[in-house]
Amino acid sequence: MSDSFGLVILAAGQGTRLQLNLPKPLAPIMGKKLVDFPIKAGLSFLEKNGTGFLGFVTGYGREEVESYINKSYSSQSNFHYAFQEKQLGTGDALRSYFANIPEAKKQTYTIVLCADVPVMEDIDIEELYRFVKENNLEGAAATFSAENPFGYGRIIRGGKGFKIVEEKEASDEEKKVTEVNSGFYIIKTEYILKNIDSLSSSNNTGEFYLTDLFSQGESVQPLLVEDASRYIGVNDLRQLEIADRTIRVRKMKRMRDEGGVRFIDLSHTYVEDDVSIENGALIYPNSFISGKTTIKSGAVIETGSVIKDSVIEEGVEVKAYSHLEKVIVRKDAHVGPFARLREGSDIGSESKIGNFVETKKAVLSKGVKVSHLSYVGDAEIGENSNLGCGFITCNYDGANKHKTKIGKGCFIGSDSQMIAPLNIGDECYVASGSTISKDLPDGAFGIGRARQEVKEGMAKRFIKKK
Ligand code: UD1
Ligand code: MG
Repeated sequence: MSDSFGLVILAAGQGTRLQLNLPKPLAPIMGKKLVDFPIKAGLSFLEKNGTGFLGFVTGYGREEVESYINKSYSSQSNFHYAFQEKQLGTGDALRSYFANIPEAKKQTYTIVLCADVPVMEDIDIEELYRFVKENNLEGAAATFSAENPFGYGRIIRGGKGFKIVEEKEASDEEKKVTEVNSGFYIIKTEYILKNIDSLSSSNNTGEFYLTDLFSQGESVQPLLVEDASRYIGVNDLRQLEIADRTIRVRKMKRMRDEGGVRFIDLSHTYVEDDVSIENGALIYPNSFISGKTTIKSGAVIETGSVIKDSVIEEGVEVKAYSHLEKVIVRKDAHVGPFARLREGSDIGSESKIGNFVETKKAVLSKGVKVSHLSYVGDAEIGENSNLGCGFITCNYDGANKHKTKIGKGCFIGSDSQMIAPLNIGDECYVASGSTISKDLPDGAFGIGRARQEVKEGMAKRFIKKK
């Protein structure tokens, strides 16, 4: 029979040291929140290793934290919450968990994760679980070796069990110990229930330390893990930056090694957690790819591109310094350099958006060209139409937005404006410099500009001699 797990995420702390004015579990990292990472690790562990649920101990900013989790994981029915009224320490947080979640006591093992340890993954939980099982332990803590152990609980080995001494309790000798506690434990539920009531707060902070649980057992062990970077605790902005970079670089290395994505310089490329990039894509440095973005096979993203919540299809080229948000760019289209594609833009396959072109809610069919200096907003452009340099949709009348529709195969001369609402049929021709305010039927020619006059010999009246 497989084991059952109560996986508790301690998330009641305020996170004052982060200076973000947010409950710590909601600190932003990799386009997500700190708490998302232990959730991901926990869910994936449970899926592969047995039955159980996720419990959250919330306190500071409880409503915000719970509402974020509920919204982000609305399909999960196995999430439970325990409210810790006062933040009296991690030991007290664990007590709140058992006091408030009836299922908690029924699970074989209790897995404790901290909301502020985001780099670790399901494989780390599996490693500690194996260690517990193979050695038939009542509990284990994952520990690592820290160059600068300041702030972490120190691991004091010796005898049968072990002791975790918190920074504020440590003697000068103990402070020199570099093996530290990660804050991640797997403990038999029975063992916790037997010992939790005897935790005391008579120490230098007056808090109940969960870590004191280990000094009371004989068959509890620390597991010193090799890769310390996986256990960084995020207590300040420096650690937040380190954790963010570690997760990011790991993600890109996996994309490269397992997914065939080519990065020219991975250490200067920014890819958030929900981004997916297919094999054969090429990503230049200093591009920032965020949100739920998908970049498909063979696409090229050049330097300085900012791409958020977008789909970039096969073979697309996004040239340098382009800004794309909530858009789709279809197969083999070219965008930029210096293009801005705003929300709701749908750039048809083989289309071309050139430099200094802005689009918003613009649906372009296949093969449309907008090569230079244009604004295309609230528009629908038919197949193979060409919008000349300096084309503008005048979509806003000061109160409302209006739509411009241009059919297929049109040629719209440079420096033309379309005063929306407007309907231009198929295969129309608009003369350069026109202001078009009336609809054109299929095949029509439109011109709307002042007639030119030529006065021979008259230039000298205007040319001033220096
Ligand atoms: C804790 C450990 C320390 C370990 C370090 C690893 C204790 C006593 N110390 O210290 O040994 O090296 O993590 O990062 O456990 N929390 C609550 N309720 C509380 C207090 C904290 O839910 O009353 C939550 C916090 O939101 C956080 C986690 O518990 O997610 C850890 O608390 P934190 O204050 O960050 O403990 P550390 O000082 O980092
Ligand atoms: Mg911490």
